[in-house]
Amino acid sequence: MRQGNGGGDSVSPERLTSPEALNHLRERLLKQRDNSRTVINVCSGTGCLACGCSAVTAAFREALAESRLENVVELKTTGCHGFCERGPLVAVYPLGVFYQKVSPSDVKLIVDQTIKGGKLVNKLLYKDPQTKQVIPYEHEIPFYKKQMRLLLGLNMVMDPNSIEDYFILRGYQCMVRALFNMKPEEVVQEVLDSGLRGRGGAGFPTGKKWAACREAKAETKYIICNADEGDPGAFMDRSLLEGNPHSIIEGIVVGGYAVGAHQGFVYVRNEYPLAVKNLTYAIGTAREYGLLGRNILGSGFDFDIEVSRGGGAFVCGEETALIASIEGNIGTPRPRPPYPAEAGLFGLPTLINNVESWASVALIIEKGAKWFSSIGTASSKGTKVFALTGNINNTGLVEVPMGITLREIIYDIGGGCPRGKKFKAVQTGGPSGGTLIVESGEPEIHESLVAHGDIREEEEAISLLDLPVDFDELTKAGSMMGSGGMIVMDQDTCMVDMAKYFFNFLQEESCGKCLPCREGLQIILAVLKRIADGKGETKDLDTLEEVSQVMIDTSLCQLGGTAPNPVLSTLRYFRHEYLAHIQDKRCPAGVCKELVSHAIDETCTGCHVCFEPCPTDAITGKTKELHVIDQAKCIQCGACYQVCRFDSIKRVKRGGGDIVQLRAKEKWQPLKKRTAAVA
Ligand SMILES: Cc1cc2nc3c(=O)[nH]c(=O)nc-3n(C[C@H](O)[C@H](O)[C@H](O)COP(=O)(O)O)c2cc1C
Ligand code: FES
Repeated sequence: MRQGNGGGDSVSPERLTSPEALNHLRERLLKQRDNSRTVINVCSGTGCLACGCSAVTAAFREALAESRLENVVELKTTGCHGFCERGPLVAVYPLGVFYQKVSPSDVKLIVDQTIKGGKLVNKLLYKDPQTKQVIPYEHEIPFYKKQMRLLLGLNMVMDPNSIEDYFILRGYQCMVRALFNMKPEEVVQEVLDSGLRGRGGAGFPTGKKWAACREAKAETKYIICNADEGDPGAFMDRSLLEGNPHSIIEGIVVGGYAVGAHQGFVYVRNEYPLAVKNLTYAIGTAREYGLLGRNILGSGFDFDIEVSRGGGAFVCGEETALIASIEGNIGTPRPRPPYPAEAGLFGLPTLINNVESWASVALIIEKGAKWFSSIGTASSKGTKVFALTGNINNTGLVEVPMGITLREIIYDIGGGCPRGKKFKAVQTGGPSGGTLIVESGEPEIHESLVAHGDIREEEEAISLLDLPVDFDELTKAGSMMGSGGMIVMDQDTCMVDMAKYFFNFLQEESCGKCLPCREGLQIILAVLKRIADGKGETKDLDTLEEVSQVMIDTSLCQLGGTAPNPVLSTLRYFRHEYLAHIQDKRCPAGVCKELVSHAIDETCTGCHVCFEPCPTDAITGKTKELHVIDQAKCIQCGACYQVCRFDSIKRVKRGGGDIVQLRAKEKWQPLKKRTAAVA
């Protein structure tokens, strides 16, 4: 007898031999479940785990037992709710109350006040940073309000380790529809008609790939789910695998049926232990119920899935490298064609799609291509999950319909930049995606764009923030959808430093198999370092562009082919910033260590807050007296600058020349003598 975690559903994992048997089981589970009872959902995604949600769950278990409520109130651990910034998160249903930053010591209060007394615990409710308004209910919180959580929605209400929870939520009905009501070619047609484009980065039409694999002549074919997710800052695929693994399994089985494959692999990085655990468990229970293996639900179709663990190399996400890795070879790419749909794993036709693509397939088959294609824009259908990170108030996972503007994502959902700082740019698509969309209307930036011929004068009024987010619009703007990493940058971000960061990452991750990528990355990184150190020359910008073009034209795989994006797009939108480093030996954002010093001005209140983060103990001064930074000890890490609440720490230009405040360009002015003395 196995105890499903969802609602204490007590069932034996019987092998289901028909769709009717699945329906009967669902009805039985629904009858067992009392929908009127209170459910406490504790987010147990990786983000909330890191903030200590396990202790919160344990405290709930104890408090409910103490109050003799353990059989009346249901306690559930779920996948990621998306708003990781505010974790650990607890949602209480059916009210839909949303508690944030919950600690074990808050739990008794929630049980006494909310569960027993029906009252809210005010200190745990969400407070809008802008309006200061307290918002008790999840669906009213701006972070969730503008989202369309078609893929992530179930994460909040379902225990990923309870297949019974998934059955109740109409799980595996999509598979039933495909296996029993559709011919394989009709499934392919449905995916084609949906307009779904792959979510792994390139945006290739999924249906076309399926049709090619279906047409390939071979006895044996394979399915692969690409869950390598190596982009810095991205965790969309991880959250889907952790929170709703059955939806991925369903999509994969349907894909196998459509193209004539009987074996699937999920290639997931080993650094995702919870995703590996939940997925492996889900595959096991699906097998027990006869939803994987021989003669699935009596349909006559056999299909099984294996989990294959990747070592975490970024290049192993590239499909041919990934295939080599599953085969037991070194994960390096090979030229295409032939494409995997014709000759993939072990030389046989292989259908490879991204995690989010597979989850979307399950939705398309369940709700129909027409429904799916009604969401989004003309060329990009459905929703897209983004991992919103960087200088943004509401860090987390957001799912939005294609066509939503960047402004809506960054301001309405993301809540803008913290501490009132000015938005500067956004990097979409990770290292191989493009940097950057900038808000035009900033005179300095606009002038640079016009001078370089990137935009025309009359386009001044159109802010790129109002760009609708879809595959083609982002590409036209010199950026890219990529896999969904979205890094927001504020006024304190240096674009040369940003490009340097991505090149550092890519240089370490390149497999080195082809010369343009191997050498090109090294050359560009060296030039970027030189510029950041104030040793660049104007002709370096030509070198950056020329080497980038060679890499784009001749690299073996898209790691090298797309690597120049961060440098080309920062050059396009922020050329003036490169020139400031080269010609004025100045870093306008005050980031590049060789070009800035930190100094404290007379507005310092002597609060000591800057002492703690300083890694070299460079700051001295008595309480309530002016503090001083010892320049011999200071390593220019900027930690003091980040924490100062009084704007008293200034970033000043290093070496000779005028000492200027570098924080807000409109306020540039000579600082007081004392600051000059220490700079
Ligand atoms: C360097 C590199 C890394 C990649 N990493 C991933 C990844 O982590 N996950 C992924 O789904 N696709 C990744 N891709 C894209 C895959 O090669 C492939 O296009 C994708 O898995 C196809 O699935 P889709 O059509 O559903 O997008 C990467 C591509 C390159 C060039
Ligand atoms: S892990 Fe809890 S909200 Fe993301």
